[in-house]
Amino acid sequence: MNTTDYTIRLEKEEDHHAVENLVRESFWNVYRPGCSEHYVIHVLRDDPAFVKELDFVMHLRVHKTDPAEQFVVEQEGRLIGQNMFMKTIIESDDGRTIPVLTMGPIGITPELKRKGFGKILLDYSLEKAAEMGFGAVLFEGNIGFYSHCGFSYARNFGIRYHDLPDGADDSFFLCKELIPGYLDDVTGVYQTPQGYYVKDEDVEAFDKGFPPKEKQKLPGQIFG
Ligand SMILES: CC(C)(COP(=O)(O)OP(=O)(O)OC[C@H]1O[C@@H](n2cnc3c(N)ncnc32)[C@H](O)[C@@H]1OP(=O)(O)O)[C@@H](O)C(=O)NCCC(=O)NCCS
Repeated sequence: MNTTDYTIRLEKEEDHHAVENLVRESFWNVYRPGCSEHYVIHVLRDDPAFVKELDFVMHLRVHKTDPAEQFVVEQEGRLIGQNMFMKTIIESDDGRTIPVLTMGPIGITPELKRKGFGKILLDYSLEKAAEMGFGAVLFEGNIGFYSHCGFSYARNFGIRYHDLPDGADDSFFLCKELIPGYLDDVTGVYQTPQGYYVKDEDVEAFDKGFPPKEKQKLPGQIFG
């Protein structure tokens, strides 16, 4: 794949519903029967911690030959991916507040998963976050995908997940430094921004604005 196959740009207001639908399609029945992530992004865009400069959408690029002019016209094709970031903090054990980023949801349209688009979008987003001067990104995710983009377990950086009992499995909690050494002298607790916590009844109400879809209990889902 090369850069003539896709475009990545900032999300516009007119993209919102299509992006929410993409996220719904991409997360549906993956982690739970149905999903909440399309509502989460709907809420997070208005959150003061939302980083609008890092709110990306990915489209296929379409090449067409203009019949009159006989040159190749490049157009934005269909929406295939999105990613976004929020500002949050690590409460350092020595009393400092360390600003960091958290990320997601990130989603790729179901029929194009595992073709390399997710990694391209994530690498691009992280590069832009680094250019903005952010020092580190932490979030919950599957190391199987995120290790391809330089993430490792947050515990390796001395960072703990909030409200997790001692000895509990923390292999879902990942970290990548954008500034090498940013967390060198930090140990502490990461806080998930409050905006990610949504109520089931609000998700249900919001979901009614989308085409009906069957919720299924499937193996591998982590929430009931
Ligand atoms: C997770 C997601 C964004 C990854 O994007 P993608 O385009 O499918 O992934 P890529 O093709 O770029 O993957 C690169 C490599 O990461 C690994 N990988 C990708 N998805 C993985 C997964 N779910 N589990 C384990 N490893 C994974 C693979 O090794 C892959 O290489 P391979 O296909 O040659 O084996 C996408 O699959 C998706 O939208 N999933 C549903 C929503 C979701 O789970 N979002 C993330 C929430 S934390």
